[in-house]
Amino acid sequence: MGMNGGSISGRINVAIDGPAGAGKSTVARKVAEQLGYIYIDTGAMYRAVAYAAIGAGITPDDSDRLGKLVQTLKIVLAPGGEGQTVWLNGENITAAIRTREVTLIVSQIASHEPVRLKLVELQRGLADAKGIVMDGRDIGTHVLPSAEVKVFLMASVKVRALRRFQELSGNAQVPLQQLEREIAERDRSDERREISPLICAKDAEVIDSTELSIDQVVALILDLCRTKTVEAK
Ligand code: DC
Repeated sequence: MGMNGGSISGRINVAIDGPAGAGKSTVARKVAEQLGYIYIDTGAMYRAVAYAAIGAGITPDDSDRLGKLVQTLKIVLAPGGEGQTVWLNGENITAAIRTREVTLIVSQIASHEPVRLKLVELQRGLADAKGIVMDGRDIGTHVLPSAEVKVFLMASVKVRALRRFQELSGNAQVPLQQLEREIAERDRSDERREISPLICAKDAEVIDSTELSIDQVVALILDLCRTKTVEAK
């Protein structure tokens, strides 16, 4: 039976965690496509809060105001186009959350407990029905600890910076060395924060994508899913 043809009870959840630029979103989107599952980019949710904070004039260290703000936000991830469209209170913010302005503050925004509590609740609700591929930093450890497949996707800082550089070329001209510094800095703050830091779940499969193509990584994850889907039936 094909992966899409399984009964509902055969559907599983797939958690993909790892540092910025390891290829999580591209890989997660492709895995979801292959399985006929829904892809959920949790980083986009934190970015949506960062975007809203900028709009509301709230500084990224203001935990109280951020906590109140997040309660007023309606964040919707809709499948379609290039992966997914992100909506905030009815506004399409898909492109707006990828700016450097958002990228530079999002890690700090994501460090506040009230922000995380609210988004994790949303994320768990989305995964209830199973058949989800979710990427982020704390999915396998905290959001969906019982996900059937857990992957920790990593790659060297150099390769991750180079990938970002190639994505950006033509747009903002940011020197490669600066991207390397920013990625290393974001790793540090994601790893060191007190609440739900970026750590590898004990039962996660570690995949180092430094020397693998996207399709190779996707194939590895689909293999893991196949094994688990058979077990779940
Ligand atoms: O994956 P990304 O670069 O779009 O994520 C943006 C930021 O959000 C990143 O700095 C870490 C944070 N994040 C998080 O803390 N927990 C998640 N589950 C996903 C992202």
